[in-house]
Amino acid sequence: MKNSYLNIFTFNKKNLKKTIDYLNKNDAIGLPTETVYGLGGNAYSKSSIKKIFKLKKRPKSNPLIIHYYDKTSASDDIIFNKNFEKLYKNFCPGPITFILKKKINSKINSLACSNLNTVAVRFPKHKIIRSILKKINFPLAMPSANKSKNVSPVRALDVYDEFKKKVRLILDGGKCKIGIESTVIDLTNKPKILRPGIINASSIQRIIKKKLIILNNSKKAKSPGMMKKHYSPGIPVAINQKKHDGRSAFIYLGKKYITKKNFFSLSNKRNLDEAASNLYHIFRIIKKRGYKKIQICKIPYKGSGIAINDRIKRASKF
Ligand code: TXA
Ligand code: MG
Repeated sequence: MKNSYLNIFTFNKKNLKKTIDYLNKNDAIGLPTETVYGLGGNAYSKSSIKKIFKLKKRPKSNPLIIHYYDKTSASDDIIFNKNFEKLYKNFCPGPITFILKKKINSKINSLACSNLNTVAVRFPKHKIIRSILKKINFPLAMPSANKSKNVSPVRALDVYDEFKKKVRLILDGGKCKIGIESTVIDLTNKPKILRPGIINASSIQRIIKKKLIILNNSKKAKSPGMMKKHYSPGIPVAINQKKHDGRSAFIYLGKKYITKKNFFSLSNKRNLDEAASNLYHIFRIIKKRGYKKIQICKIPYKGSGIAINDRIKRASKF
């Protein structure tokens, strides 16, 4: 069944078949994952990769994440190592992306990796994307389903807002549970976090038993997602705010201002995982309501608060 937005499809057997047909024809379509919605296409096909870059208006120098069902299905394309094995065992399938070396005879289209000899590899957990990956015989190149520099989509309708009818199919998997993008960790050398996420540095350190390098606002971006201006809601964002200016949308933690106009809570219980999952949706609501500016209170720099601080800092570089 389709809903009133002509290209948003509910998940059922018939639409799963349609999805797989489009992917087999090297199309690029909107798909749910546990983190954010992705714009997915056949990672082995040049035409599908070209479509993805074009739709997103993404610079060709910014490589895509390649999504697999499991380790076995990735083994023809990717060179694994010990740190990968440990992290895979603990966190996969799940919201973590590994930068690893590409095999020389890998079938991944070189455009997808911006001609690098490394690949970003992820094994998503969402049951819909897993049922798709299981049924196709290629991996999915899948960046977040937003125009370059915009906020990632966390609902099917957000994907529609980004691309309207320019994508033929958006598969509705409900609201993304995690709501921010996966942790990106470079394992080609000393383990280094390139993009913080819900799986944080201390839980990774506990598994690999090594101190991690954490890239933070370095000038030379190793991961283009670390570009300073990114994840932008399209209006100015001011962070570490103490006082409401009287007219902007004010984002905070808790329920102190629950009845007050212009105030938006990320989590009534001040839970940082919940706050991360609501951040992008609240950005979109605020933008739609016509506010001219966003103020955000100080977010604790711990647990998922580290990833939230990373995203809002970039959003503030508008
Ligand atoms: O949660 C996610 O990771 C979502 C869902 C759809 O899976 N995807 C996502 O993709 O956030 P994207 O393209 O928006 O972000 C991928 C990040 C970018 O910052 C990109 O520069 C980085 O991964 N990346 C990709 N390949 C890389 C490589 N070989 N070396 C370093 N960074 C890489
Ligand atoms: Mg993105």
